[in-house]
Amino acid sequence: MKFFIDTANLDEIREAHELGLLAGVTTNPTLVAKEKGVSFHDRIKEIAALVPGSVSAEVISLDAEGMIKEGLELAAIAPNITVKVPMTPDGLKACHAFSKQGIKTNVTLIFNANQALLAARAGATYVSPFLGRLDDIGQNGLDLISTIAEIFAVHGIESEIIAASIRNPIHVTEAALRGAHIATIPYKVLMGLTQHPLTDKGIEAFLKDWESRNEA
Ligand code: E4P
Repeated sequence: MKFFIDTANLDEIREAHELGLLAGVTTNPTLVAKEKGVSFHDRIKEIAALVPGSVSAEVISLDAEGMIKEGLELAAIAPNITVKVPMTPDGLKACHAFSKQGIKTNVTLIFNANQALLAARAGATYVSPFLGRLDDIGQNGLDLISTIAEIFAVHGIESEIIAASIRNPIHVTEAALRGAHIATIPYKVLMGLTQHPLTDKGIEAFLKDWESRNEA
């Protein structure tokens, strides 16, 4: 499973990128809105220049024509832009239009397996099931990852599954086990994955022993 970061914040992206493991970035209108005083296109351009992998930028229009217009503008910003469209009939139409032009797509706001299958068949490069939001309403988000992964494997579907709306480290481990190709993770959760109290304790003990060594 590869790691994307789910943010539009440049400092967070820069720091995560420095870890050397970042394969891409996802943004959404909410995340972009948190970044005060920056133009959407400028920020996407900055992110795409910083991270060589896929950078998802989401359209706002609700009709296919508007999505296609917006998506073409976004795709023109940089070669590594992935156009993110919502899982609606118009989103599927736009997804298909982009896929015919070789433009990468991420179909977002997926909450069941049929939506994922439809998106894949419309040519989606990525499908994004939202784990946390399903958990929030008492449905098992991780089970959805397993189901989608199984369906894609049975039918030889090449669209990649992005485990989205990740809230905690268990989501990450389980998404990997259940066959997600990618997890897109908020900065705090991503950095939290590096930590374990026994790692800190171990470093502390090593340093203490090192200081007390008795060299000849
Ligand atoms: C994915 O592409 C979305 O940006 C994201 O994972 C949404 O997560 P949330 O439910 O925490 O807003």
